[in-house]
Amino acid sequence: MLPQIPSASIDLILTDPPYNLRAYSTGNIRLSWRKTVNNDVAAWDGAFDPSMVVNEFVRILKPTGNLFAFTSYNLLGHWHERFDPKFDTFQFMVWHKTNPPPKIRRAGFLNSCELIVCAWNKGHTWHFSKQRMMHNFIESPICMGRERWRDPVHPTQKPLKVLRPLIELASNPGDVVLDPFMGVGSTGVAALELGRRFIGVEIDPAYVAAARHRLDAGNRGRTNTE
Ligand SMILES: C[S@@+](CC[C@H](N)C(=O)[O-])C[C@H]1O[C@@H](n2cnc3c(N)ncnc32)[C@H](O)[C@@H]1O
Repeated sequence: MLPQIPSASIDLILTDPPYNLRAYSTGNIRLSWRKTVNNDVAAWDGAFDPSMVVNEFVRILKPTGNLFAFTSYNLLGHWHERFDPKFDTFQFMVWHKTNPPPKIRRAGFLNSCELIVCAWNKGHTWHFSKQRMMHNFIESPICMGRERWRDPVHPTQKPLKVLRPLIELASNPGDVVLDPFMGVGSTGVAALELGRRFIGVEIDPAYVAAARHRLDAGNRGRTNTE
């Protein structure tokens, strides 16, 4: 889909591509005293490399645009290698999950942090109003409760509490936000809520249907899903 998007037309790419963690997955955690803990990664989480998208991302972003991409420790170096030479500035943020999946044996760290790479060029402006907002650290629980989409459950649905501040800091109302790996459409829900326009792409039809439902329900009359 990316080649169909006009050059220099996107204000913010906020996306969450596969992490390539399939090979490391130890599966869901079954417990006798509570329901199974979601600790598995999906079948699609094994065939992504940042080099697959770098040229298209650079082409479609406006000169004033910004990129945020969720990623994992195993791909951070690849993101830096490919994206740092193409942008004026490359940084990263940490999302600390306050309720990560538990480890029954105390044999290692919890996976309580995720990384978000960030890249932009001269001309991009930020909406920082105090130093506190400039920390590259966000704290929030993983997606749960009524926000967690059930039909189907997406194993890596991102919480709106993490997405909203990124959109607010890096774009303006009316701007176009793109998520080319949108899952069940969380970036779109946050973007439309904040008065931005949204383009989403997703390969799995069940997730597309869920995203369409969420976007239409939250923004009646303001979306055109095709
Ligand atoms: C990490 S998940 C995104 C989850 C999303 N942030 C949410 O909150 O629902 C990555 C998504 O990329 C999708 N995907 C994988 N390969 C793709 C491709 N080539 N084109 C579009 N989507 C793809 C997967 O189906 C999966 O839903």
